Amino acid sequence: MIAFIIYFAAILSAISASHIYDVNKFGADSTGRKPSTHAIQKAINKAASNNGGTVHFPHGQYLSGAIELKSNIILDFADDVVLKFLDDPKEYPPLHKKLPNGKIVNLQFTPLIRAFDHINITIRGNAVLDGHGETWWKRMPPPSTRPVFLQIFWVRYLTLENITVKSSPMFNVNLKNCDDVTIRGIKIRNPANYVDPGPNTDGINVNSCRRVHITGVNISTGDDCIALDANGKGKTKTPTEDVLIEDSHMYAGHGGVSIGSVTSGGLRNVTVRNCIFNGTNRGLFIKSRRGRGGLVEDIHYHNIQMVDLRKEGIAIAAIYNGSDPGLRSRDFYWEPVNETTPFIRNVEFKNIHGDSVLNPIFIVGLPESPIENVTFTNVKIESKLDVFTNNTKNVVINGKVLDS
Ligand SMILES: *[C@@H]1O[C@H](CO)[C@@H](O)[C@H](O)[C@H]1NC(C)=O
Ligand SMILES: *[C@@H]1O[C@H](CO)[C@@H](O)[C@H](O)[C@H]1NC(C)=O
Ligand SMILES: *[C@@H]1O[C@H](CO)[C@@H](O)[C@H](O)[C@H]1NC(C)=O
Ligand SMILES: *[C@@H]1O[C@H](CO)[C@@H](O)[C@H](O)[C@H]1NC(C)=O
Ligand SMILES: *[C@@H]1O[C@H](CO)[C@@H](O)[C@H](O)[C@H]1NC(C)=O
Ligand SMILES: *[C@@H]1O[C@H](CO)[C@@H](O)[C@H](O)[C@H]1NC(C)=O
Ligand SMILES: *[C@@H]1O[C@H](CO)[C@@H](O)[C@H](O)[C@H]1NC(C)=O
Ligand SMILES: *[C@@H]1O[C@H](CO)[C@@H](O)[C@H](O)[C@H]1NC(C)=O
Ligand SMILES: *[C@@H]1O[C@H](CO)[C@@H](O)[C@H](O)[C@H]1NC(C)=O
Repeated sequence: MIAFIIYFAAILSAISASHIYDVNKFGADSTGRKPSTHAIQKAINKAASNNGGTVHFPHGQYLSGAIELKSNIILDFADDVVLKFLDDPKEYPPLHKKLPNGKIVNLQFTPLIRAFDHINITIRGNAVLDGHGETWWKRMPPPSTRPVFLQIFWVRYLTLENITVKSSPMFNVNLKNCDDVTIRGIKIRNPANYVDPGPNTDGINVNSCRRVHITGVNISTGDDCIALDANGKGKTKTPTEDVLIEDSHMYAGHGGVSIGSVTSGGLRNVTVRNCIFNGTNRGLFIKSRRGRGGLVEDIHYHNIQMVDLRKEGIAIAAIYNGSDPGLRSRDFYWEPVNETTPFIRNVEFKNIHGDSVLNPIFIVGLPESPIENVTFTNVKIESKLDVFTNNTKNVVINGKVLDS
């Protein structure tokens, strides 16, 4: 009986050991002198061919080109690992691919880390992933497109935990059509860029995803810290919904949390709470424009401290044309409503404090689509400018109905 138990335990431990794939055993160079792209990919492919497993990076420095994650893979970093990415564009060729789900991926550059049409992927550990963006920003200044750092499309059950993503050529984390996402304790670092257009280094860019929980993140970047979009038209409209963002700190960035301006798929049931924004351009921003379409509703912001904002504290605009002067233009005219008209309604702000250089609250709708039912309770944002609203319906600021 005892022999049997020992034998059984040995089998169990052999199984669990075989679920760990050490990149060094596949030939990765942990001194970071020579590229380990192929070794890392071999470890991932081997794990994937065994129905998944943990691909582990022991302590050290690594150098890599583009890598592809697959179903049931945990990319696991030992503490203090540094994974640097090569900055040679040849490592990131254009990517055109038909996925098993029938969707087509068509990218100008292969992302540094990618996963398309998979299930159950985790990237975790107290490691620094360095995208070597400095070279890219110089070589291909805005408005050029550059490769995205982590680009993950059509993945269900995705977790990103504790990693630091820095110096991204473009967006840091870009999720599209993903469900059941948890992003916890990650840090994003890119140079501040307070003027448009910058190198487009959105921190976490979420597009048409459901059930997304972002918690304990720390972001300082050159574009929106967190951006929520939803795209598609007609039958391909895919909403972003059931999103919770909490306990997070944003430093430099265009918006602390921005919604839109790609709203065509619709965004609903989004909560942002218990966050600190320190020095972003705007704090909370909902933006769309004619032509985008989509309905943005049921959005809640609670317990947010926003200090030293360089532009408006809170802005909701259905006239955002991609540049700030557009927000100030007052020559809008009435147009008939159709599928391309955006609607924004049922937005709630509670316990928000801070200070901003431009208007504390700025809400501008369209004549044919006023921004409707926006409630502010216990909101105090210090500014030399006043609240500004136009083309709104049922805006209530600290108990006072304010319509325009
Ligand atoms: C997700 O993948 C990991 C690593 O392979 C595995 O341990 C875990 O059981 C998977 N989870 C599910 C729900 O399949
Ligand atoms: C992430 O960091 C937290 C806080 O330091 C720690 O409790 C947790 O175990 C870490 N998780 C991983 C997977 O490293
Ligand atoms: C965010 O990260 C910076 C270091 O990059 C650190 O100074 C700061 O304390 C962090 N904030 C939080 C709330 O963890
Ligand atoms: C709204 O989203 C949250 C997740 O943030 C979820 O727990 C809740 O069930 C959703 N509410 C509705 C009405 O779907
Ligand atoms: C904002 O950051 C500055 C340093 O840049 C720091 O002195 C200040 O305490 C921070 N404020 C909040 C509310 O975190
Ligand atoms: C946005 O609108 C402003 C003011 O009308 C105009 O100056 C600017 O050129 C427009 N920008 C774009 C990208 O259309
Ligand atoms: C919707 O209306 C706009 C004018 O606001 C017009 O330019 C556009 O062609 C219309 N689109 C459709 C699909 O009818
Ligand atoms: C107005 O918005 C609040 C908060 O989002 C919501 O609870 C309420 O149902 C909305 N009212 C209408 C008439 O839609
Ligand atoms: C409000 O918008 C209308 C167009 O819908 C415009 O004519 C008017 O000048 C705007 N008011 C202010 C104060 O900007």
